[in-house]
Amino acid sequence: MGKLLRLPGLIDIHVHLRDPGQTHKEDFLTGTSAALAGGVTTVFDMPNNKEPIFSYGRLKEKIEIAKRKAVCDWGLYFGTDGQNIKEFEKVVDKVVGLKVYLNLTTGKILIENEKLVEKVFKYWPKNKIIVVHAEGEKIDLAIGLCKKYNNKIHITHISNRQDLDKILEAKLKKIPVTCDVTINHLFLDKHDADFYKDLLVMKPSLQNEDEVDYLWENLPRIDCIATDHAPHLASEKRSFDPPTGVTGVETMLPLLLTAVKQKRLTIKEIVRLTNTDPQIIFGYKQDKNTYVELDPEEEYKIDNKRLFTKCGWSPYHGWKVYGKVKKVILRGEKVFEEGKVLIKPGFGLNICYNKV
Ligand code: DOR
Ligand code: ZN
Repeated sequence: MGKLLRLPGLIDIHVHLRDPGQTHKEDFLTGTSAALAGGVTTVFDMPNNKEPIFSYGRLKEKIEIAKRKAVCDWGLYFGTDGQNIKEFEKVVDKVVGLKVYLNLTTGKILIENEKLVEKVFKYWPKNKIIVVHAEGEKIDLAIGLCKKYNNKIHITHISNRQDLDKILEAKLKKIPVTCDVTINHLFLDKHDADFYKDLLVMKPSLQNEDEVDYLWENLPRIDCIATDHAPHLASEKRSFDPPTGVTGVETMLPLLLTAVKQKRLTIKEIVRLTNTDPQIIFGYKQDKNTYVELDPEEEYKIDNKRLFTKCGWSPYHGWKVYGKVKKVILRGEKVFEEGKVLIKPGFGLNICYNKV
């Protein structure tokens, strides 16, 4: 065994743990176990559940489930269809942010009517971030509204040059907008999508190599890397109407460490993109005794059979990677070692302090 490397526990600001509503794909225990196996100690879960999280009641129900089952720390997003403005004040201190869908994705919860989008930006309390799924011209809409109403916004899963340039330009103008790219848009491209067909359909879709290269070149200007961990059964992906998205929370760190080995990235950048910048953007202070120990020299193969995610497959199955997670310490407690979760469901805490 080589010298162990210690990193602060990763924060994944974009996961879909499917609980409640689609627990045949994932639930808070399996999804957060997968997180620990990947060195991720905090996840922020999206609101596009089968019954979207559009009300205080649904949010309370989800908080209770996460409280019982999670083994890593967690935060939840609230969702909106533009008709639930009156819920905003009730939920704002119980969530990490509001998620607004301006383009279509799983759950079909996008807001198409621009008047409604405007209402959302106007009434969402200004002290909490709005995370936006926006592609193409919808990015202009989001940035325009953010300017008009003084919101703080974060555009998630940027996938191409044109979209990234819009954000970089807004940043130059000191508009409070940040962004992330996903692991998939950095490590997979259109060739993979064409080869694996429905298995790799995701939103935003995988891009040409040039676009992928552009994201890598501009990583110093990008704020975070997230996984968009979006579990669906392989049988569902191969069905007539395949759902979009792939898993990722337990493979992010080894993929990034492999990129370090290939001199495409530095450890310092990994820490910024998966830990320090997420804390700054979301106003979250991670406990100092939360860290991961790994062997950066240990090479191994990602294997579907060894995954914790309930849906049981990864687009990176068979990839040779470096950096096996050996041990995870969460708030001073050893929670994961040598492939085993060591604590009971419910050990994970709501980073919004379990307030209901
Ligand atoms: O492809 C995707 N699937 N993109 C998203 O942003 C959502 C996700 C899902 O929930 O399955
Ligand atoms: Zn997503």
